[in-house]
Order: sequence, then C-alpha cells, then structure tokens
Amino acid sequence: MTLAVVTLAAGKGSRMKSDLPKVLHPLAGQPMLAHVLSSAAQLGDAKQHVVIGHGAEKVREQISGFDVSWAMQTEQKGTGHAVAQAMPEVDPEATVLVLYGDVPLIQTDTLQKLLDETHQGQNLALLTVELADPTGYGRIVRDAADNIQAIVEHKDATPEQHQIREVNTGILAVSARLLNEWLPKLSSNNAQGEYYLTDIIAMAVDHGVAVRAIHPRDEYEVQGVNDRLQLAELERVFQRQQADELMRQGVSLADPARIDIRGSVTVGSDVRIDVGCVFEGDVTLANGVHIGPYCVIKNAVLGAGTQVESHSLIDQATVAADCSVGPFARLRPGADLADGAKVGNFCEVKKSVIGKGSKVNHLTYIGDAEIGTNANIGAGTITCNYDGVNKFKTEIGDDAFIGSNSSLVAPVKVGAAATVAAGSVITKEVADGELAVARGKQRNISGWERPKKN
Ligand code: UD1
Ligand code: MG
Repeated sequence: MTLAVVTLAAGKGSRMKSDLPKVLHPLAGQPMLAHVLSSAAQLGDAKQHVVIGHGAEKVREQISGFDVSWAMQTEQKGTGHAVAQAMPEVDPEATVLVLYGDVPLIQTDTLQKLLDETHQGQNLALLTVELADPTGYGRIVRDAADNIQAIVEHKDATPEQHQIREVNTGILAVSARLLNEWLPKLSSNNAQGEYYLTDIIAMAVDHGVAVRAIHPRDEYEVQGVNDRLQLAELERVFQRQQADELMRQGVSLADPARIDIRGSVTVGSDVRIDVGCVFEGDVTLANGVHIGPYCVIKNAVLGAGTQVESHSLIDQATVAADCSVGPFARLRPGADLADGAKVGNFCEVKKSVIGKGSKVNHLTYIGDAEIGTNANIGAGTITCNYDGVNKFKTEIGDDAFIGSNSSLVAPVKVGAAATVAAGSVITKEVADGELAVARGKQRNISGWERPKKN
C-alpha cells in the first residue's frame, strides 16, 4: 500500500496582513510549509501533493528541495474542495494523509501513529484534541458508546454541541478509494457555503467504515498559525526544543530561552553558549568552543578551543582550533583562520587566510589577503584590495610586522619577517627582513606662534 500526503496550502492568511503567502512565513528560518513537508518526508516513501492557490507562484518558487506534485485551487471553496483538487494525481490505491501548510510543528511519530490507526486504509483515522476553549473548531460528535458519528463545524453546531471539547485538528488519514467515492458527494449547504472535508466522517459512519481517533503527544503539534502572534508562539516552542536538544548533547546554554537556531548546529563536548546568539545554516562547534553573548554565526566551522567574544558576526568562515575572535569582530565569507589566530575588536576579514598564531587585533580590514604564520597586523591596518573596478591580493609573510595605521595597496607583497613602519602607505613589494617606511618625514618648527584672534 502506498502513501500519498496531501498538504493544504491554498488559503490567503488575511490575518497575517502580509504580501507573503501565509505558508511561506518562516519558522526557524524555514517556510512553515517546508517544516510540514520535512515531517511528512520522514514517513518513508510518501508521494507529496500540495494544494496551492493564493500566491501559488511564490510558493512553488520558494519551496525547493522537495519532490512535490502541485495542485491548483484557484477559488477557495473549502477543505473538501481543496483535497479534491489533488485527487486526480493521487494513486487511487494509496492511503491519503491530509496535512495543513499552516500547522508547522506536526511530528512524524504522531503521523505514523495516525496511519497505523487506518489499518492499511480500512479505517478513517482522525487526529483530535481536547481543548479548554474549543471555540471556532469543528466538534467531534460521539454516540453513547463513544463511537465517532460526525464532525460538526462550530458555525453549524447546536448549543449542546458547542459544549463538546474534543475538536478536529483537520489532520486525517483515509484511503484514496473512499475519498474518490465521497468527495464528489460533498455539498456546500452549510453555514459557510463551503465543501467541508469534515462531512466525510458522517459518510464513513453511513458506509460502515470505522472512524478512529488518536491524539498528538503535545498540543503545539496541531496548533495552526493564523496571525503573527501564533507564529511567534510556535517559534518559541520550536526554539526551546532545539535548545533542550543541545543541552542533552552536553552544551551549556546560559539561558535556553535566549538562543535561536535557524538551521543545524553540530557540537563537540563542553561547548558553552552565552545569551542572545543566533545560528543560521550549518554550524559546527568543536570541543570546548565558547561563544560569548550576542553573536551571529552562519554556515561556519569553529575548531576546538576557539573563543568567540561578544557581538561577533561569523558568516561562511572557517576558524581552526584555539582561535580568538571578537569582541565585535566580523568574519565574512572566505575568512580562514588557522590554529591560534586572533581577530580582535572592530576587525573585518573577508576571503583571506590568517596564518597560524597571527594577530589582527584592532580596527583592521583584511580582504583578499594571505597572511603567513605569527605575523602581527597593527591597529588600523587596511588592505586596499579594490580600485573601484577590480580586486587585488595582498601577501604578508611569516613573522611580518605591520605597524599601526598602515595601508597596503594591493597587489602588493610584504616578505617574511619584514617590518612596515606605522602610518605607511605601501605600494611596492617589501622584501624579506626589510623595513619599509612610507610616510611624510616629521618636521619640528621651534618658536611657532599660534594665530591670535583679531
Ligand atoms: C478546519 C476544519 C475544522 C477544524 C479546523 C482546525 C473543515 C471544514 N473544518 O476548519 O473542523 O477544527 O480546521 O484548524 O475542514 N484551505 C485550502 N483551501 C480551501 C479551504 C481551506 O487550502 O478552500 C486550507 C487553509 O489554507 C488552511 C486549512 O485548509 O490551511 C484549513 O482551512 P480553514 O478555512 O482554516 O478551516 P477551519 O474553518 O479553520
Ligand atoms: Mg483555520
């Protein structure tokens, strides 16, 4: 028996008050719909169908990396109508699992439990929850023997039915064979004038198909997002789960409520992370890495024992072992720090190698440069790598010493153990061991009188 997942994502999401289709609003840096598709993909060999309508083109464009069959629903005539749009592409022998693009935190194990409950597609399985306040939801109507009889939408329910606290989450599983039989029979004769998917429950009961309900482990799994408040709430739930997982892996977090992971963080042992840090893309933190407060780290690898001080930004950079970065450092794409290198406060490094044990400690820009080992780059050094059109390379040898406030006009080379005097503008190669002085000579004028006010 095959599995087809049909995710509904055609709705507008008016309450988001946004030009972005609702299902593309990000949770932990990924569109909500991508979270749903990932959870469903883990069910194994599922064929995934997504019903789109509002902002369909944007949704197709921005959801990449998933093998999805798209179905268009140009007019939103209800959840039953939405599922019907996908059915022509669904394998008629499959079991169909219906999901929602705006219910992002559904867990794979809950879905698996729901599918098991269909017994190879013989039963209709529903995911339901008991809510303290069921207002607005479809109610699960059971008979005296506790068997499910129907789902009644809030707007169609009687006052007694309004008392029912078990509600429909919308998520269900049933065979394609039965859906193909029942969906064409839905009517829109109800309070909202819509084709309700939920009306198939009463049809199942009429046809003697067993209707089974299971519950999710946690309520957040079935919480839908209608506005930005609800999205922010689920973001916190998700971030807390990731923080808990990191702590289980042996990471010390100064405050698990103050970390955001928008991607994946792979960690060694005894990693410590202070408050307010954001991780994006794929980040690896080796043994003993310490990240100070308010750092942003994206797609980077940090070697064992490296310390990143507060307010540093590391983006597509490689930092080897025992390095020191920050506070207030910016490592841009292609920054490559060898073991024991230091990049200190208010320094920017782009597409450059900082050799073993070399120091770039204060107020410096290093771009398109290759720096050897144990070099010292003085405060305020600038590699002038750009002439307004092209970029050029700067090479600095092992043990070189660049005096403070120097400009190295690329392409240029400073040899091993060479020295550049402070305040120099270097435009020509400095050979190994040489001292280069390239600045105006100091003149002292004695007996100088300051101008006086007239
Ligand atoms: C639906 C259920 C209700 C359940 C609730 C849980 C029905 C008739 N009712 O109600 O029992 O308690 O979800 O949240 O199913 N959508 C489309 N195309 C459409 C209509 C909806 O793609 O034509 C999508 C929406 O974008 C949304 C989802 O389906 O993601 C649910 O639709 P919505 O209108 O929010 O249904 P509810 O009235 O909340
Ligand atoms: Mg809804």
